[in-house]
Amino acid sequence: MLNFDEDMAPSAQAGLRMATMDMGAAVADKMVEKDKAPAPKSFGRIRVEDKRIINSSCDVNQLVPFKYKWAWEKYLAGNANHWMPQEINMSADIALWKNPNGLTEDERRIVMRNLGFFSTADSLAANNIVLGTYRHITAPECRQYLLRQAYDEGIHTHSYQYIVESLGMDEGEVFNMYHEVDSIRAKDEFLLPFIDTLTNPEFKTGTPENDQKLLRSLIVFACIMEGMFFYVGFVQILAMGRQNKMTGAAEQFQYILRDESLHLNFGVDMANQIKMENPHLWTSEFKAELSGLFRKAAELESAYADDTMPRGVLGLNATMFKEYMRFIANRRCQQIGLDVIFPGATNPFPWMSEMIDLKKEKNFFETRVTEYQTGGALSWD
Ligand SMILES: [Fe+2]
Ligand SMILES: [Fe+2]
Repeated sequence: MLNFDEDMAPSAQAGLRMATMDMGAAVADKMVEKDKAPAPKSFGRIRVEDKRIINSSCDVNQLVPFKYKWAWEKYLAGNANHWMPQEINMSADIALWKNPNGLTEDERRIVMRNLGFFSTADSLAANNIVLGTYRHITAPECRQYLLRQAYDEGIHTHSYQYIVESLGMDEGEVFNMYHEVDSIRAKDEFLLPFIDTLTNPEFKTGTPENDQKLLRSLIVFACIMEGMFFYVGFVQILAMGRQNKMTGAAEQFQYILRDESLHLNFGVDMANQIKMENPHLWTSEFKAELSGLFRKAAELESAYADDTMPRGVLGLNATMFKEYMRFIANRRCQQIGLDVIFPGATNPFPWMSEMIDLKKEKNFFETRVTEYQTGGALSWD
């Protein structure tokens, strides 16, 4: 039974208690009996077997009983990974950035371009969740995770703002790159139709066609945006950190990579669960269309690698990134249940998998990462 006591003014609560004390035991027993009576059908208790990720008629206000424990576990993991940008010491980055001989022009281009891409991409991600995905998902466990994910995306945007401000960069230049730099704009233009589907106020699930639209957008968002379009930038900035350059920015990108890895895995689990609950959506035409999107995304991310790194730098070159994108695209296809699209592709950056698991990475950068569960427990040399 719902308890509204906490919503009442204290005086009203006191009045209610007095009234209850004045009642005879028989009347009180009757009230208890009434509470046990079956609720009207429209308020029937939730049954686990009735819950669905989409198009459920169950009450979305009741988190439990749990059906999708993987979503709840990811919500707990997301909270355990909590961090805040301003906890990270940026003094070494500031000294390096302000020293005219501190970084090459190519290295500065990598930093600027990636801040340009990520600074608006995470706002797109947050808007996609809050204004789109959230309202179409009818599993409260998944909504609970999405609330945490939306906050993560806000922290990521905060992180880029903090780096831009710390380094004294031209914020107008960085935050307008998604309008002004072709390789960034091309990625965002690829994503926008899928985001628009979810955020369109007229869009509703409930028909096979619209449910496929939702599933397509969810897969594009998790597997392509969070699972492919972030990865050239992650490799480039983390490669700088591995060479003891821009270690504060690299540290933040490492935390963001860890968050995004969880977002990706949540999105994959949710899409696979929707497939299981709605097998009619997973047609051969639909799968072929998705494979085409993964191919296009690999091209766009490779073009972004060429633009951010026109010459080999930091021991990396465009050919390696092209291969990496083929490898990552294969991995994402497998996760979602599609055949690989680039057979034989290999991973030129095996160290990236270690980066995702921060607990294994102690003293990797100049700043000291210790095993921790919350931002408040961070300590720095
Ligand atoms: Fe993010
Ligand atoms: Fe994300």
